[in-house]
Amino acid sequence: MHVLITAGPTREPLDPLRFLTNRSSGKMGYALAHAFIRAGHSVTLISGPTELDVPDEVDFIPVETAAEMFAAVGHTLGRMDIAVFAAAVADYTPASVEPQKIKKAGATWTLELVRTPDGLAAARGEFGFAGTLVGFAAETEALEVNARDKLIAKRCDLIIANDVSKPGFGFDSDRNEVLLVYPDYNEALPPASKHALAHRLVAAILELHQKRQS
Ligand code: CTP
Repeated sequence: MHVLITAGPTREPLDPLRFLTNRSSGKMGYALAHAFIRAGHSVTLISGPTELDVPDEVDFIPVETAAEMFAAVGHTLGRMDIAVFAAAVADYTPASVEPQKIKKAGATWTLELVRTPDGLAAARGEFGFAGTLVGFAAETEALEVNARDKLIAKRCDLIIANDVSKPGFGFDSDRNEVLLVYPDYNEALPPASKHALAHRLVAAILELHQKRQS
């Protein structure tokens, strides 16, 4: 099977020195890449900047911005059987990037941001992807409701939802606790290391892929 995984944060530049980003470490996406490889599949990893070692066997596409991630997804998705969007992509980016360092001026500064393109939302429509489509949802409240909204809006087969307000789990942690949100039901998985969880998630995603084929 050919599997696409997006991982890590994006960086949205303001000027040559500064960017907007988020707390994603990329650990969950990279753990999934390792687990799919261990299960004998071929993995393309599109990743924002992380501190992690890139698994030798992956086809690695490094990106920085949400726009670059979107373009890389568009180029690769056509060859994939399964796509897992684990990246924490910035939803907004500065309306303009200053070519020189921005100097401080008044007491306040209002920054204009514009929406970034969403690769997961474009997968089914614009990119015509017919394979198994899996997204992530990081929420601080109403986990199931918000995840189910994303499942429907982005036409996914599965949303892996995690409550990032729980201390010790999710963003930047080695452990995670997730709720699997399928079109017809939910399944709560027990807390686990991202490594162990990745193997459990790969099994669930492959089972889902089999079901969609039959
Ligand atoms: N995603 C993406 N490209 C974006 C934004 C999100 O591919 N520009 C993907 C993420 O990788 C993840 C899912 O979409 O799989 C997350 O959905 P999203 O609606 O972006 O979540 P939030 O940013 O948390 O949305 P909201 O702020 O509305 O809760």
